[in-house]
Amino acid sequence: MYKIAFLAGDGIGPEVMAEAKKVLKTVEKKFGFKFDFHEGLVGGAAIDAYGVPLPESTVKLCEDCDAILFGAVGGQKWDALSSQLRPEKAILGLRKHFGLYANLRPAILFPPLVSASPIKQEIIGNLDLLIVRELTGGLYFGTPKGREETGGVVRAFDTMIYTEEEIKRVAHIAFKAAQNRKKRVTSVDKANVLATSRLWREVVERIAKEYPDVELSHMYVDNCSMQLVVNPGQFDVILTENTFGDILSDESAVLTGSIGMLPSASLGDKKPYLYEPTHGSAPDIAGTGRANPIACILSAAMMLEYSFGASEASNAVKQAVTRALDEGYRTSDIKTGAGKVVSTTEMGDVIVNFI
Ligand code: NAD
Ligand code: IPM
Ligand code: MN
Repeated sequence: MYKIAFLAGDGIGPEVMAEAKKVLKTVEKKFGFKFDFHEGLVGGAAIDAYGVPLPESTVKLCEDCDAILFGAVGGQKWDALSSQLRPEKAILGLRKHFGLYANLRPAILFPPLVSASPIKQEIIGNLDLLIVRELTGGLYFGTPKGREETGGVVRAFDTMIYTEEEIKRVAHIAFKAAQNRKKRVTSVDKANVLATSRLWREVVERIAKEYPDVELSHMYVDNCSMQLVVNPGQFDVILTENTFGDILSDESAVLTGSIGMLPSASLGDKKPYLYEPTHGSAPDIAGTGRANPIACILSAAMMLEYSFGASEASNAVKQAVTRALDEGYRTSDIKTGAGKVVSTTEMGDVIVNFI
């Protein structure tokens, strides 16, 4: 029996999480697992109920679980709150609390979605890359951070800090992942300007010596954002720091046809790990039944693999998603100009039927 912390959040979060739950319930029946779902409040939903985005009770609930499945948080209603009280603090707090320093974001182009990619077919090819994003350091968490006013001058500041250890541990994850793939790591930084990036490069070079079978190259982040568009096929594993990884992962997601396709796993040195779609709460489409549940369903598939070692069940879910797309089922964000447009719940039902 595995205990899953089930944190739906705001906007389309609860909508896509309901589909992931259906999928996991089917996995229980087909593969003989038993999952115990423990629902907790996060983000705006928690602010409305308790006045804080990440209540102590939710953290406690996660501590008692084997894995965390997270929907999405955020929305206009809570945008004016101070940084400590914003919904986004929920996901940042969970990442930090559980030491989830490595965020794996696989961007895979499913063949029937080639025409949904904004990139020409001959360039996009059969895209299959993995972003390994450092998740608990850099600008997101560095201190001092804040805003002050002196003599009528308003200043705001964030601090970019990386320690050698923080770089080392995430680099190991990237090199190990590359060993099971095409054995190439592109480390992305801004070493021509930033001191943190120079340390990043130096440490990654050193760790690379422990993985002689993996080829390491370096690329500046501005060039990388261009290369992802002009020649995405050159990438296997992209290893990068927190902010750069955030930006490059949305870019990679849309290369695959829609941001609604990209799952993620956030790993650390101990349980529980956290799984969430890369997209946000999509307030513009929340409540309309148009959200694509695939990123969340594939995040659940990553959970089966990384937290429960259930590779067979995980592959069955991935194959069911592939078959749904092969047979022409599309939520409206996937613009292939062909196939059957279905709602969030219909897409979930189709995938469940194919498991
Ligand atoms: P977003 O990812 O929510 O939406 C960007 C665009 O993509 C929107 O047009 C949206 O409709 C579309 N989209 C996103 N997911 C989709 C899906 N599954 N199916 C179909 N279309 C989808 O990003 P945003 O608009 O910049 O942010 C909205 C809110 O979400 C903000 O409050 C932001 O802070 C928050 N956010 C939360 C997370 C998270 O919880 N992990 C991640 C990113 C953004
Ligand atoms: C993501 C999101 C988060 C981030 C926000 C909601 C804090 O954009 O998971 O990509 O910036 O990491
Ligand atoms: Mn993001």
